[in-house]
This record gives sequence, structure tokens and C-alpha cells, in this order.
Amino acid sequence: MTRKLNIAVIGTGGIVNAHMPGWIDAPHAQVVTGYDQVPAAAQAWAAKYGIPKVAGSVEEILADKSIDAVDICVPNRAHAPIAIAALQAGKHVLCEKPLAPTPEEVRQMIAARDASGRMLMTAQHFRFGGSARALKAEIDRGALGNVYHARSWMLRRNFLPTRPGFIQHALSGGGVTIDIGVHILDLTLWMMGHPRPVSVSGSTRTVLARQPGAFSSWNTRSDIPREMDVEEMATAFVRFENGATLILEVSWMLHHAMPNGKIEDMQMWLYGDRAGARWPTCELISANNATSQFYSTTLGLLDAPNAPHKQECLDFAKAIIDGAPSPVPAEHSLQVIAILDAVYRSQKEGREIRLDG
Ligand SMILES: NC(=O)c1ccc[n+]([C@@H]2O[C@H](COP(=O)([O-])OP(=O)(O)OC[C@H]3O[C@@H](n4cnc5c(N)ncnc54)[C@H](O)[C@@H]3O)[C@@H](O)[C@H]2O)c1
Repeated sequence: MTRKLNIAVIGTGGIVNAHMPGWIDAPHAQVVTGYDQVPAAAQAWAAKYGIPKVAGSVEEILADKSIDAVDICVPNRAHAPIAIAALQAGKHVLCEKPLAPTPEEVRQMIAARDASGRMLMTAQHFRFGGSARALKAEIDRGALGNVYHARSWMLRRNFLPTRPGFIQHALSGGGVTIDIGVHILDLTLWMMGHPRPVSVSGSTRTVLARQPGAFSSWNTRSDIPREMDVEEMATAFVRFENGATLILEVSWMLHHAMPNGKIEDMQMWLYGDRAGARWPTCELISANNATSQFYSTTLGLLDAPNAPHKQECLDFAKAIIDGAPSPVPAEHSLQVIAILDAVYRSQKEGREIRLDG
């Protein structure tokens, strides 16, 4: 039987709790240690999950020859330096989204991956949900034909993550655009088959978070921290080399009606020359205007809370064991980050940004 991969977690705050069910159930991987710059956070995490050892530094983990892979769960700006050091130390890397806040950093990570021959995978968990896989299967069998337009949004009304790692640019590298824009854009590009983007016109803004009495419902209702220096909303129009177009909207704060009981309205509409599709409801809209469901109940089980996070960990470990390609290649993330970076530049320069230069 194959030896279990030894995994070390770096950053034991919020999101690691969504990864742990995957590592606990993984047949070919186990978490053996972890590190957090706040020692109490690492100790509490280790006690909660029965992890035998807490490391004293990232360097200690990277020097440990028995560790095969690291699971990076620290704020965005710390992803690239840790991932590059880990790859240089011969570790496989699963890294939380966004892979890094800038295209330059992602390119450096890809170069480190290529020099090391190890795996670099972005934790884009929405790709591992049952509804997303069902839609991808429909597209791959040609149900939509040529997809020439998409509309995607991930809109929250007053659900702004109040932690420093999300709202302070020095730690996050950006606001809602790279926090959740990265989710819906990654998913949409994956469905569209990654056509090459040629131009981006975008806007980013902060309006509601600055108003007196503004609050976020994140965890418990709280004021917006004064330190917030990133945007709460973004919109973009993207043109692709194959003629396709995309309209994208994301918000942490917006006077938008939420679906019943939900914290966000997340939708993707794809329009092809054979049929259209709506996600996550998994509706297929055909030429005669008929709407049918293609949601598979078997795959649907993967949409249970945290199931996609769990599946991404299982697939990461399996791909390493099998010597298979990364389930979410860093090249896909480079395309996502290049578009989101262009949204920021478009806002700053007040014009459309060309990406085909
Ligand atoms: N996939 C998703 O849906 C999803 C959801 C939430 C967060 N995330 C991503 O996960 C990452 C972490 O987010 P979180 O919600 O867990 O944040 P968090 O603030 O809850 O936890 C981050 C942890 O990292 C530690 N840390 C910070 N810098 C460090 C460093 N240099 N070395 C070691 N430890 C360090 C902090 O002490 C903290 O315990 C972010 O990149 C975020 O975008 C993804």
C-alpha cells in the first residue's frame, strides 16, 4: 500500500476548518503538523483535531524531510513567499485563493513550481461542488454549443469579512474583487473553456461601508473597522479573443435583495449557440425556450456544506499519488488574476485595459 502523504498546514485560522474534514477522510494523506504566527491559534487547532505536533516556524516545516506537502491558509499577501519557499524545499503546495493578488507573484510561483517539479494547486473549491461538476459535464458533452456570452455575479448585501487579512490592503492585496471575484470568475472561465482575455473595463468602489452606522453581519453584527482600505464592490466587462464576452459583478456591501435565508446571491448564466445554462440551479434553456434540469442527485451530494472544500483536498492528494496534473492549474489562476488586476487598473486609469499586448 502507498505511504500516506504527510501534510503540514500553514495558517490555522478560519478556512483550515473547511479543509480538515478532507484531510481527516483522505485515504492517502494525513496532517502531521501545522504552524500559525499566533501560537495560541495553532495550539487550539491542534487540540481540536488531535494533531500530534505544532511547528515553531515555516522554516521548521520546510526543513522537515518527512513532510510531502503544505496547505497554505494564510492571508493573501503571504501566499507567494510561503508557496515559493515550499516549492524550493521540494514540497507540493495546495494554496488558498487567490493564488496571489498580482500576476507577477503568480508567475513567480509558476516558475518555482516548474523548477521544483512539484504540484501547485489553487484551492478553488467551487469547482469541486456537484452542481459545478454537473454543469461542466453538460458543457463538455456539447450541450451549450459555443458559449459566446456569460453573466456572473456574487453579491452580498452587508457581509463584509471584518478580519484584517481581508480589509487591509497590505495583507489582502485588494478587497471584494480578489476575495470573492476570484471564485465566480474562476468558475466562469472554467466553464467557458478558458478563452484568452483581450480587454477589461472595470470599476471598483466603496460607498456603503463609509456611511455612518454601516455594519457587517459577518459572524455577529459589527461596525466596519476603520482600517478598511479596500473596495466593497466591483463590476467588469471582459472581451475574449474568440469573440465571447463576460459581465461580472461582486459585492460585500450592496442594496441587493438576497435569496431567502442566503447570505449571498451567487449566479452564473452561460449563453451558447445551442442552449443557455444557469448555475447553481442547473437549468438548461434550450432553443424552444424549454427549461430542463440536469442536476444529478449523486453529484449533488457534493454540494453539502463544506463538501467541495473536502473534495478539493482529496483530489489534491490523489493527483500527487497518481502523478496526475494539478486539478486546478496555476495557469488558470494566472488568467483570473490578470483579469482582476486589470479591473483595478481600469478603475485607476479610467479606461479599458488591453491584455493582448
Ligand atoms: N475558499 C474559500 O471560500 C475561502 C474562505 C475564507 C478564506 N479563504 C482564504 O484563506 C486564506 C486565509 O483566510 P482565513 O479566513 O482562514 O483567515 P483568518 O484570518 O481566519 O486566518 C489566517 C491565519 O493565518 C495566520 N497567519 C497570518 N500570517 C501568517 C504567516 N505569515 N505565517 C503563518 N500564519 C499566518 C493568522 O494568525 C491566522 O490564524 C485567505 O487567503 C483567504 O482568501 C478562502
